[in-house]
Amino acid sequence: MNINKTTPWFLVLCLTLLSGYKSVKGSISPSSEPTKEDGMIGFKPKTLFVFGDSYADTGNTPVIISPSWRFPYGITFPGKPTGRFGDGRVSTDYFAKYLGLRTPIAYKWGRFARPRQAVKKGINFAFAGAGVFDTIFTVPTASMQINSFERLLQKNVYSPADLNCSVAFFSFIGNDYIKYNIFNGTSQGRPALIRRVVKQILLDVKRIKDLGVRKVLVVLSPPQNCVPLYSTFKGCNTNNTFTKLHNSLIREGLRKLNDENNDKSFLMLDLYKAFMTIFKYRGVPGISTFPEPLKACCVGRKGGNSCGDVDILGRRLYSLCKDPKSFFFWDNVHITDEGWRSVFSLLLPDSRF
Ligand SMILES: *[C@@H]1O[C@H](CO)[C@@H](O)[C@H](O)[C@H]1NC(C)=O
Ligand SMILES: *[C@@H]1O[C@H](CO)[C@@H](O)[C@H](O)[C@H]1NC(C)=O
Ligand SMILES: *[C@@H]1O[C@H](CO)[C@@H](O)[C@H](O)[C@H]1NC(C)=O
Repeated sequence: MNINKTTPWFLVLCLTLLSGYKSVKGSISPSSEPTKEDGMIGFKPKTLFVFGDSYADTGNTPVIISPSWRFPYGITFPGKPTGRFGDGRVSTDYFAKYLGLRTPIAYKWGRFARPRQAVKKGINFAFAGAGVFDTIFTVPTASMQINSFERLLQKNVYSPADLNCSVAFFSFIGNDYIKYNIFNGTSQGRPALIRRVVKQILLDVKRIKDLGVRKVLVVLSPPQNCVPLYSTFKGCNTNNTFTKLHNSLIREGLRKLNDENNDKSFLMLDLYKAFMTIFKYRGVPGISTFPEPLKACCVGRKGGNSCGDVDILGRRLYSLCKDPKSFFFWDNVHITDEGWRSVFSLLLPDSRF
């Protein structure tokens, strides 16, 4: 596929149809200057591709293996389980909303049906448990997710013009590190692992860009220790040396990639900053209040139980809070609908969520 041969009218389509671009003169040499209404992305995208893990998955993980398809997942929105890991919308939904797009359809590994109209708006390849390398779960890694995307491109599902009006959301939060924790990895070995993970992330996002996607938004890691899973009644371990290393290597890598291309193809979403702010202020002033931000709304009653587990008689093996809106964390690792709304309100304040 030769992207360079795209004729200029393709570009115009992307800018005019969507942003109500100001002047028709722009069609001769469309300005690439972002307008305020185009926000952080700099243009109005038509298509969103998502690669990631459970923070971004909108239903790819199969019903038989995933609690996300069971009550009480989805109780806030839309009121029933949809395969999302939370009580409602997840990062993908809020990011799509920010772009003015509908949430892209879930890829549904192994049974991808391809309703063409919906596919044109993008696809979510994110799969719970995924990392950039193999994790403790047998799920598609970042590279495998990109392979699926590439196979669609080979079938010409998207024209170069479609791709030039597209954005990718790349959100791998930390399953590579969770695996290391479970296998008792040492502190000394961790910086080397972080370097390997970040190197792979940079290769992956560059590959997405090289496949023709216009901009790639890379999600930085939130403080890895500050989830209910690793917290005690005293709070979380705020020594975030390792998360900071991960994030600073990504920043540095993306800066280099942007410099090489002399453009701003790679953007970042700083979940670290957002989470820390929310923990500090127990919410976002004027948006949300989380009296105990490190506590989960839905928790297993005993060690081995998790949110959504029931015994053979159908009795709940978990406790559920009364008001998920007053919780940032939904379960031991995932964020509530209100939590994500708060994060995006903080990070993309020029929009209303
Ligand atoms: C994509 O669109 C931008 C802005 O309209 C343009 O500068 C760029 O050359 C286009 N790229 C391709 C590969 O068509
Ligand atoms: C990790 O360490 C714990 C406690 O020492 C041990 O019970 C567990 O088997 C170890 N796990 C692995 C994968 O080595
Ligand atoms: C934080 O953790 C790192 C890595 O284990 C360690 O080298 C450093 O001394 C710790 N910092 C503090 C303030 O405890």
